[in-house]
Amino acid sequence: MANELKIAVLPGDGIGREITPQAVAVLEALGEMTHHAFEFNHGIVGGDAIDQFGVPLPEETLRIAIEADAVLLGAVGGPKWEGLDYAIRPERALLGLREKLGLFANLRPATLYPMMTDASTLKREVIEGIDLMVVRELTGGIYFGKPRGIEKFGNEERGINTLVYTTSEIERIARVAFDVARKREKKLTSIDKANVLEATELWRRVVTRVHADYPDVALSHMYVDNCAMQLIRNPKQFDVIVTTNMFGDILSDAAAMLTGSIGMLPSASLGAQASKNREGCLKGMYEPIHGSAPDIAGQDKANPLATILSAGMMLKYSFGLEKEAQLIEQAVFSVLEAGYRTPDISGKGTKTIGTIEMGERVVAQLKQHSS
Ligand code: IPM
Ligand code: MG
Repeated sequence: MANELKIAVLPGDGIGREITPQAVAVLEALGEMTHHAFEFNHGIVGGDAIDQFGVPLPEETLRIAIEADAVLLGAVGGPKWEGLDYAIRPERALLGLREKLGLFANLRPATLYPMMTDASTLKREVIEGIDLMVVRELTGGIYFGKPRGIEKFGNEERGINTLVYTTSEIERIARVAFDVARKREKKLTSIDKANVLEATELWRRVVTRVHADYPDVALSHMYVDNCAMQLIRNPKQFDVIVTTNMFGDILSDAAAMLTGSIGMLPSASLGAQASKNREGCLKGMYEPIHGSAPDIAGQDKANPLATILSAGMMLKYSFGLEKEAQLIEQAVFSVLEAGYRTPDISGKGTKTIGTIEMGERVVAQLKQHSS
C-alpha cells in the first residue's frame, strides 16, 4: 500500500471539536508506532461552516473529503442553527457528504464491553454478551426522496417527505449486510414495515431474492415496531440487522443504549467496492453515532471513545489494517478495565475523567501494548 494515507478531519460543531482531536492523537501515535504515515487535512463543516462561509458544506471541505482516502468526522449541529432553512442546516453537510461520496452503507456495531454492564439502564442478564451490527441504508429512503418540502395547502400548510427505494438501492445494501453476516454469526434480520408501506414491501421482496446468493446465512424479517421492542426485551437474538435509512437512524440509537452510552458507538459509512480510489483503500467516512451535544460542549466532559473507535474502524475498513485496528480496541478496553470513565459512563467504583485525559490514557495504553 502507498505509505501516505490521506485522512480528512472534519471536527464540526459542539463536542465534535473536542473528541476529534483525541482520535487524531490516537491515529498519530499509532502511525508513529507502526510506521504508517497519515496525512491529516482539516476541513470546516456544519454550523462552523455556516458561520464562516454561509453554507454547511463549503466546496473546499468537499474537495478535501473527495481527495482523502478516508474521512473522520466529529459531529454537526446545535441550537444556534436550528431555525435555518433545511437546505442550509448543519445536518445537510452530513447528508451532502454521504450523498456526494456515495456512502450508501452505514455500519453501526453495538458491542457491550463486560466492564460496562452496569452503565446500561437495562438488566445485566438482558444485555450481557450482546454483539450486534446495524447495517443502515444511508443515501436513499425518506431522507432523500422527492418531493419534499413545506408548501401552502389551501389556507394551511402541508409538509411532505417521500419514502422511495429502487430495486438496485435495496439490492446493494442487502449484499453488504449478507457479506457482513457471513463474517459473523451468519444471522441477518431485515427490518421493514411491509404491512403498511409499499416501499418496504419491495425492500422485503428484494432482500429475500438476494438471500438466494447467501444460502449459508439465516435470514428473517421483522417489522420495525417489533424490532424496537425486541431490542429492549431480548437483544441477544440479533446478529446483523439491515434496514432503511430512517429506521436505521432510530434503531441504532436504541442499540447504542444497550451498551451503556451512545458515547461509545462508532460507525463506518462505506461506498461500493468499485469506489476504491487507490490500491487497497476503500473510501469511507467514520464518525461517532452521537450528535454534537451542545449542552456539554466546551467542558471537557464528552466521551471521545466513539470517535476513537471510529478511527479504528477506518483502519480496518478503509486501509485493511486489521491488526492496528485491534490495537486501538485493546487500548480502549484496557483504559475501561482500569476503571476510567467519562461522566456519561461513570458509576460506582469508577474514576471520572475528562475528554482530554481519556484520549491521553488511550494513547498511553496503545504505546504500552505495542512495546
Ligand atoms: C445520525 C444522525 C444524522 C442522521 C443527523 C445528524 C442528520 O442522527 O448519523 O444518526 O439522521 O443520519
Ligand atoms: Mg441518528
